[in-house]
Amino acid sequence: MKRTIKGVILAGGLGTRLYPLTKVTNKHLLPVYNKPMIYYPLETLVEAGIRDIMIVTGGNNAGDFLRLLGNGAEFGLKHLHYTYQQGEGGIAAALSLAEHFADGHLLCVILGDNIVEKSIAPYVERYLEQGSGAKILLKAVPDPTRFGVPVIEDGRVVRIEEKPKVPGSPYAVTGIYFYDEKVFDIIRTLKPSARGELEITDVNNAYLERGELTYDILDGWWTDAGTFESLLLANQLVAERERRRARAAPESARPSP
Ligand code: DAU
Repeated sequence: MKRTIKGVILAGGLGTRLYPLTKVTNKHLLPVYNKPMIYYPLETLVEAGIRDIMIVTGGNNAGDFLRLLGNGAEFGLKHLHYTYQQGEGGIAAALSLAEHFADGHLLCVILGDNIVEKSIAPYVERYLEQGSGAKILLKAVPDPTRFGVPVIEDGRVVRIEEKPKVPGSPYAVTGIYFYDEKVFDIIRTLKPSARGELEITDVNNAYLERGELTYDILDGWWTDAGTFESLLLANQLVAERERRRARAAPESARPSP
């Protein structure tokens, strides 16, 4: 029997790489073209059919998420769950706060600053068929050293390295992850990394060691928006996509100039 899946958006952390843009607001509330950044991961989950969603926020402006998103009516949702991350303990630490919400369900986790061109529905479907363990999505990038990078030998991921000086492949591990209920026990075993965070890469390596990690190559463009360069790129990619969509829409559906 197929299991159901819930969504978690990780939008904690302090966004220090975007300072002073993040001095008086949360990174995920900054604009990307014509919407706040957080809209994109939320739309990505909803479009893929995920309706039960928790947002992990943090920092001084967490209340603004509630003012902006409320119960998610704008996205066709009846309810949104929220929780608060104290400080910046890392992506895995933020995810650990969703344990009660997950309540034994499968999870699709997306980082709040990750934006994709296309639907992730095919990967959700494949993970539901997989039914347990973990899945990551990879994307070839020009600058893998900024990301988690899989070392690939004979077509198999043998380990994942976080921000390696010499990348073991041209791929980034994107911030879209699929986990089963074991993820919370795995997080409890983690030790903080050199940058003082509980790393999501260590979670993925733990699944890999158990032989329970699969991967797909993500179709369409993908970017994070957590640095000045990638925030600019995200704006350009989204603007271009919206222009393409407007050109493809019938004239009656186009916004008036
Ligand atoms: O974007 C994909 C990359 O994201 C992966 O390839 C890396 O393996 C992964 O470690 C991560 O790298 P970054 O260094 O770019 O992550 P960053 O610290 O920018 O955090 C990304 C998002 O995760 C952020 O927008 C909100 C969430 N986050 C992060 C931290 C540190 C939290 O919710 N809480 C946190 O404490």
